[in-house]
Amino acid sequence: MPGTKRFITFEGTEGSGKTTQVGLLAKHLKEAGHDVLLTFEPGGTAIGQKIRGLLLDPQNNMDPMTELLLYYADRAQHIKEIIQPALQSGSFVISDRFTDSTVAYQGFARGLNLNIINPLNEIVVREAKPALTFVLEIDVKEGLRRNRHAKKEDRFELEDIEFHTRVRDGYRQIAESDPQRVKIIDASKSPEEVSREIIKIIGHELLKNS
Ligand code: TMP
Repeated sequence: MPGTKRFITFEGTEGSGKTTQVGLLAKHLKEAGHDVLLTFEPGGTAIGQKIRGLLLDPQNNMDPMTELLLYYADRAQHIKEIIQPALQSGSFVISDRFTDSTVAYQGFARGLNLNIINPLNEIVVREAKPALTFVLEIDVKEGLRRNRHAKKEDRFELEDIEFHTRVRDGYRQIAESDPQRVKIIDASKSPEEVSREIIKIIGHELLKNS
């Protein structure tokens, strides 16, 4: 695998089932005898939790640049405090969202120029790049419906369907430009079927590089 070998990220639009899949993969890797660290963005650290509160609060009328920089503030702390130490100790690190969320949401959906996001990414992420990224794809409307049943809506879930469609299209472009790392998974299937497909790809990629 390219990138940091044991770093795997999950991406997708709202309600795509990432959190379930992250849990199933962690369970599989642990059963195979690996150390696994499960984490997420925004909010994977104590500081990050405070930043998450600011980012998701529907009361906040936030400038897109403020939003972008807060995601990177969260990420800088997350990499330093959680991701790097775990990778150095030899663990698998699985993150529910990472840099591709910023490109899809702040770049493609919010409309911030990728010429601003990409250099920021180089400065903050440096060598902590994922080796494999799974983008779980489901019908955008269906995902929003699922989420609305589950919890109170946050600032992003309140965005219109066009915003979320741009996120979905953004992920497709990311996958097209980096097919070796980014795999689009049809997440409309049962959680077990989706998990089997993900595990198959990981097995294949690990063997290919061992
Ligand atoms: P979550 O619902 O997966 O916990 O993520 C919270 C929201 O944050 C979700 O709507 C996607 C959004 N987000 C961005 O807009 N940019 C980012 O860089 C990240 C990590 C998340």
